Amino acid sequence: MTVGDSSTEARADDERGIVIHDLRHSYGSRQVLRGLDLRVGPGEIYALLGGNGAGKSTTLAALLGFIAPSAGIVRVCGIDPAADPQGARAQLAYVPESVALYEHLTARENLDYFLSLAGADRSGATVIDPALDAVALPRHAWDARTGGFSKGMRQKVAIALALARHVPVLLLDEPTSGLDPQATLEFNRLLATARTRGVAVLMVTHDLLSAVDVADRIGFLADGRIEEERQADSGSARFDLNALHARYARPQVAA
Ligand SMILES: Nc1ncnc2c1ncn2[C@@H]1O[C@H](COP(=O)(O)OP(=O)(O)OP(=O)(O)O)[C@@H](O)[C@H]1O
Ligand SMILES: [Mg+2]
Repeated sequence: MTVGDSSTEARADDERGIVIHDLRHSYGSRQVLRGLDLRVGPGEIYALLGGNGAGKSTTLAALLGFIAPSAGIVRVCGIDPAADPQGARAQLAYVPESVALYEHLTARENLDYFLSLAGADRSGATVIDPALDAVALPRHAWDARTGGFSKGMRQKVAIALALARHVPVLLLDEPTSGLDPQATLEFNRLLATARTRGVAVLMVTHDLLSAVDVADRIGFLADGRIEEERQADSGSARFDLNALHARYARPQVAA
């Protein structure tokens, strides 16, 4: 992997949270990322928006060490996921659009199993129960098999796992697609909880309402880079939803 100048690299190694600098990636001859810059610090929620095929999931794949980027700097708490995928993954929790759980195990048993895989402390009363409590999974579901869980309940288990692991970075790919408004609201509250715990949250989404509700920054990915970034204003109307919607619905130039 080619890297930028050494001072940028040294700074990225020091940084907590997520650092992406001048990231480039091609699948075959198709250039998908063309100089992406993005930073998410501790206690910050970043919503990454962009049309279908813009490269959002590819960006997450680079952070997860699933792909080796053509060029650029990618760091998860100072770790390069392409060089040390296990090290990077130990610092993060990834919640895909469809959360896969062991269907025949209960919510508690799933947490116990995944925590043991992660080599994390898993004593039920002090780790698992508080995490399930924090995500407001109804108590009657704690000892129910997850095979019957709704999408919202599965996500709660996944976030509970992230909280129980005390990871500093949370990656989410379209977490609110298919959630009803109430579940979306609850989900947004959960992200806010993660923020108060100092987690750096990167959420890929098409859900502008959710982004406006919870994000500190919103970035538009187009033509392989962050074309525009907006910072939340202090105050109750933190983003101008109409302006964002007009921006998001603008026709994309084909790559
Ligand atoms: N493994 C792969 N091999 C070849 N091309 C790929 C691969 N993964 C993604 N692509 C292509 O790269 C581009 C970006 O894909 P990506 O999945 O990152 O987009 P996205 O922004 O997540 O889109 P969506 O909103 O539809 O989820 C698309 O053109 C896609 O077809
Ligand atoms: Mg995607």
